[in-house]
Amino acid sequence: MCGIVGYTGNHQAQPFLLDGLASLEYRGYDSAGIEVLSPDGSLHGVKCSGRVEILAQRCATANLVGTSGIAHTRWATHGAPSDRNAHPHTDCSGRIAIVHNGIIENFRQLRSQLIAAGHEFKSDTDSEVIAHLIEDSWNGPAKGNLLEAVRIAVSRCEGSWALAVLCADMPGQIVCARRRSPLVIATTANGCYVSSDITALAGKAKEVIQLDDGQLAILSPQGTCSVFDEDGNSVNSPTTMTVDWDASAATLGGYPDFMAKEIAEQPEAIRRLLQNRLGKHGIELDELTLTKEEMAAIDKVYVVACGTSYHVGLIARDFIENWAKVPVVVEQASELNYKESVLVTPNTLCVIITQSGETADTLTAARRMRGLGCKIFAITNVLGSTAARESDGTLYIQAGPEVCVCSTKAYTAQMVGAAFLALRLAQARGTMTREEVEKKFHELETVPNLIDQVLQRSWQDKEASRAFRRAHSSLFLGRGVNSTAAAEGALKLKEISYLHAEAYAAGEMKHGPIALLEPGFPVVAIVPQGHVHDKTISNIQECIARGATVIGVATDGDEDVATICSNVLWVPPVTDEFLVPLVVAVHLQMLARYVAIDRGYDVDKPRNLAKSVTVE
Ligand code: G6P
Repeated sequence: MCGIVGYTGNHQAQPFLLDGLASLEYRGYDSAGIEVLSPDGSLHGVKCSGRVEILAQRCATANLVGTSGIAHTRWATHGAPSDRNAHPHTDCSGRIAIVHNGIIENFRQLRSQLIAAGHEFKSDTDSEVIAHLIEDSWNGPAKGNLLEAVRIAVSRCEGSWALAVLCADMPGQIVCARRRSPLVIATTANGCYVSSDITALAGKAKEVIQLDDGQLAILSPQGTCSVFDEDGNSVNSPTTMTVDWDASAATLGGYPDFMAKEIAEQPEAIRRLLQNRLGKHGIELDELTLTKEEMAAIDKVYVVACGTSYHVGLIARDFIENWAKVPVVVEQASELNYKESVLVTPNTLCVIITQSGETADTLTAARRMRGLGCKIFAITNVLGSTAARESDGTLYIQAGPEVCVCSTKAYTAQMVGAAFLALRLAQARGTMTREEVEKKFHELETVPNLIDQVLQRSWQDKEASRAFRRAHSSLFLGRGVNSTAAAEGALKLKEISYLHAEAYAAGEMKHGPIALLEPGFPVVAIVPQGHVHDKTISNIQECIARGATVIGVATDGDEDVATICSNVLWVPPVTDEFLVPLVVAVHLQMLARYVAIDRGYDVDKPRNLAKSVTVE
């Protein structure tokens, strides 16, 4: 949700802090700030609303000299995006500075107590209380021990935090703390680096320390990191993780934006994921650590996710119900968390789908489902993420860093991951023969080439994007699994072009959304060859009869669609209808991108959104 970085070592801190923030900017970008400990022994900082780029311009004239510092890029929760609410926040003395990702849920109460005790607040944020709490314990029970001051301070907080603290009276030291929000640390010959996620640390170290929940750490300029538990006891073997993303994975590499790059990376990501998945015993999914008997006993599956990953969940339901014949409930995590009754059976499997592995709602839902006795299986992209660490088994989709805020390559790769899971369950439960499972797997193997073909047709999306020029709203239609493909297409358009898009099951349109239609109203209709093709054609006719401009997404050579639609986004024929959402997704991603570019928007950093939503 917010991104934090810190550095202490033998180099100047500012260059890494600004670069690190730029690479974490997808976590939030409404304001940014930096604080460095100067050689004169005082803290100096710059903070401002707007993007890291603006912060970097301010820093160019601010002359921030110092070899230890912390920095932050914000996605506002408490307090409007403004200069004064930007992090870092300092205590009353200005000698303690903090950056925080997360939410302090009891901040109102703490703030009142601190104000009553004489503290003066400079912002409207929840985070600022942490600086004052540290000041209190530093001057009180911690007696000048920074780790202890932070430990006592966070023990008074409720909520979530990833925290980095700089203190003018402890030169060179950075103290970190983590609860629920991720934090990783690289120790090197040049000093220590800390970041919200490994994107900012790519190229710094091959192995990083991941703080566990409740842990704290002291980073030194000599490159050592000491980890402690919440009671202040030393942790001898902190959790570590190998970084398999190199720095170039998170750069544009010649593409105009990350969205374009990540759309283009889909065939490669899926090829990688498919490797070594078909063995002599059929689908290999060792990550699903259930015995054959346990798999056979599963009588219900709960799939829980948010955003684009929720759409993967809806498609996973089709795969699992059709192939493994197990009833599936799909829930948006934020809804599941506050439902009065969640009806699980003793053999319910819970599947969480989350690109980042850090979405707070999804993690809370997983914890609730675990509490109800479910085993948790995660499908995620980020190695060592909280979702992976808290699940019984994890399938990594290995799509590489996804930097654009809206999800593209993770969406299709997660769908392939969901297909593996469904096939593995079908195999174990005997609902499909070995030959049937293998056939489906080989069909999945055709997806990268199918997507490659769609990528060559981006001109069709560019042309079709003109239909949205004067639009105030739009409608996305599809039937069956393609009503989910339509929902994802509409979500992409809303996220980056700020144009309202409603997605509806095509056959249901006549019960309401049809009232929206008027001459020139853009409708995107997903109408591939298959068992509901003709029914969908009838729905398109209903739109055309009301003057709508219909963009069909259809199978090569479909004259029925070509003759009635204003534009057609052509997809190559597929051998099985279950492949269609994987292929049409790419057209809808490119269409949304062209509409947004046409409107002059930054596709990678849409307003108000953040890639990793670590607050509920
Ligand atoms: C945010 C992002 C979406 C993403 C959703 C769930 O809203 O902007 O693109 O789909 O979070 O994220 P997850 O990491 O759990 O898949």
